[in-house]
Amino acid sequence: MGTYLFGDAGESLDPKFDALSSLLDAGTFARVEQLGVADGWRCLEVGGGGGSVANWLADVVAPSGHVTVTDIDVARLEERDNVTVLEHDVVSNILPGNAFDLVHARLVLFHLPAREAVLRKLRDSLRPGGWLVLDEFDCLPLDVLAAPGPDDVKLIMRVKNALLTLLDQAGAELAWGARIERALLDAGLHDVSGSREVREWEGGSAGCRLLAATARLVRAKLPLTDAEFDRYLELMADPETVVSSYAMCSAQGRR
Ligand SMILES: C[S@@+](CC[C@H](N)C(=O)[O-])C[C@H]1O[C@@H](n2cnc3c(N)ncnc32)[C@H](O)[C@@H]1O
Repeated sequence: MGTYLFGDAGESLDPKFDALSSLLDAGTFARVEQLGVADGWRCLEVGGGGGSVANWLADVVAPSGHVTVTDIDVARLEERDNVTVLEHDVVSNILPGNAFDLVHARLVLFHLPAREAVLRKLRDSLRPGGWLVLDEFDCLPLDVLAAPGPDDVKLIMRVKNALLTLLDQAGAELAWGARIERALLDAGLHDVSGSREVREWEGGSAGCRLLAATARLVRAKLPLTDAEFDRYLELMADPETVVSSYAMCSAQGRR
């Protein structure tokens, strides 16, 4: 049983949610729009985090549709006319069956050792014909393409390896993104398709801001001196640094 690595970070999570929203929202919105989401849809946003996806969905399905957004930490989630916020652990709490036209989860199952069981639970919460959409990372492709100096390349890779070790120890599946299409098929979903994208992230971009924000959250557990940590943060803000990104993987299927 793992424990969510960033579970007690409080307000220091905000820069991470901002970076995730800048990096991923446009792709998530385009994918969900292609499914035909519209006024009247009933949606479940699992592990809604900073709330950007739930808020967008709420606008798209208004006035007669509804969004339920869950998380174990609901501090940043907003109740609105057509949004219900639920403090809910998707591993141990129940979900209604046959209830939703769309269920979406981004970078949540990645962290959960019980991800396959959770996926079946999400499937069962869909009405027949409803869509399950997952957005996840495969962390393994991250590599350094350019950096001011050779020691900087080594430092970036040390931080990558230390962070991935911490995630792994907490129960994350580092290459989960690479498996999500297969997992949707194994769960018996139909019309399954997916995509995988590796980009270049320059220092200062949303991707490098995400790396810096994540490193800050686990600073105390990283085997780095203060000087090395400060240098890492400088590199993540320096446009001379270029990394190949985590693979950004998405998959969708219908019940
Ligand atoms: C990496 S963040 C992603 C947030 C948001 N989905 C996004 O992409 O911007 C993971 C989210 O999953 C939530 N989470 C972790 N374990 C959970 C669980 N067992 N049940 C529900 N949410 C969980 C965290 O609190 C956090 O908000």
